[in-house]
Amino acid sequence: MTTLTVDLGERSYPIYIDTALLGQNDLLKQHISGNSALIVSNETVAPLYLEKVQSMLGGLKHEAVILPDGEKYKNLEVLNQIYDGLLRNRFDRNTTIIALGGGVVGDMAGFAAASYQRGVHLLQIPTTLLSQVDSSVGGKTGVNHALGKNMIGAFYQPKAVIADTDTLDTLPDRELSAGMAEIIKYGLICNADFFSWLEQNMPALLARDKKALTYAIEVSCRTKAEVVAADERESGKRALLNLGHTFGHAIENGLGYGQWLHGEAVGAGMCMAAIMSEHMGWMDKQDKEKTIRLIEQAKLPSKAPDSMTSEQFLKLMSVDKKVLDGVLRLVLMKGIGKSVVTDEYKADDLRTAIKLSS
Ligand code: NAD
Ligand code: GLY
Repeated sequence: MTTLTVDLGERSYPIYIDTALLGQNDLLKQHISGNSALIVSNETVAPLYLEKVQSMLGGLKHEAVILPDGEKYKNLEVLNQIYDGLLRNRFDRNTTIIALGGGVVGDMAGFAAASYQRGVHLLQIPTTLLSQVDSSVGGKTGVNHALGKNMIGAFYQPKAVIADTDTLDTLPDRELSAGMAEIIKYGLICNADFFSWLEQNMPALLARDKKALTYAIEVSCRTKAEVVAADERESGKRALLNLGHTFGHAIENGLGYGQWLHGEAVGAGMCMAAIMSEHMGWMDKQDKEKTIRLIEQAKLPSKAPDSMTSEQFLKLMSVDKKVLDGVLRLVLMKGIGKSVVTDEYKADDLRTAIKLSS
């Protein structure tokens, strides 16, 4: 088993990565300090893995809340189902919420843990590739608002992340590709060697080669853990992890939450960032083409959706958490592995990039 650490002083926590982790009872129980747990899952994941997690809890008092499945349910109204479950069962401040599912369940259960009685314990059991390489690590939790993606939330770290790679066996191909977007992101922001490894190994990853997948998950989690340890609340470096996301969030909202998967929107968004970076003379043509080629190799979209206009993009992008004092900062690239957070672009550069991307 690989164990990585997110180093945050007394709030540090382990990320366990291996096959057959769901079944190792001690792994879960050693991170539960109270005498009750609420498992939050959804209607797709629960029939596959809920029983396994329940049996890991042994005699501990536990209940489950099963949410409807989908990004369109990641909102305050559905979040209430978790609070209902906690209150109905009189769960107290020493309760542990266990998020069992992909990023949607993880973000919602995480926000419930951050806010219920001003904070209860949280464990993440991510079951999608995207959540194993990104969303379960680092403590960003929250829900969408009709006017903006992930606009309501909190930073709240889990006590542990348990990534059982066997859960990926049941993941649909489209979801596997969505996870590749966040993996490619780590190469593009700071690791050119990993980007080259991905170019060589994308066929093995898409064929679900466990060794290749485990390596990609480890490198991704190690990179994310380092960034989060250096800048937990995104006052600087952590913003790099949003490469492709400002464009991507506009796509998710513009098309309606759930039409394009988050990873698909981020894939197209990273191509848009590469196109803008090349247009500004920051990234050379070869690196831009390599970026687009790898994203296409991962079976992700590389262009903005036909139905979205530049005006729609600009309006939606102005509602972004990287807007500071009214100025939108973007993550752009000075080459593969060399991303920067910047507001040094002209409004025309952004308009042109959006046009060139469709
Ligand atoms: P998701 O949670 O919607 O899961 C994708 C689909 O796969 C769902 O239908 C789910 O039910 C199903 N599923 C999950 N595990 C499965 C399994 N093992 N077998 C079969 N089906 C399974 O989507 P996601 O891609 O995991 O996460 C996307 C969300 O994560 C977005 O809301 C995004 O904003 C968020 N996110 C958060 C962070 C963060 O730092 N908190 C980072 C990246 C993304
Ligand atoms: N996914 C971006 C972050 O965690 O900061």
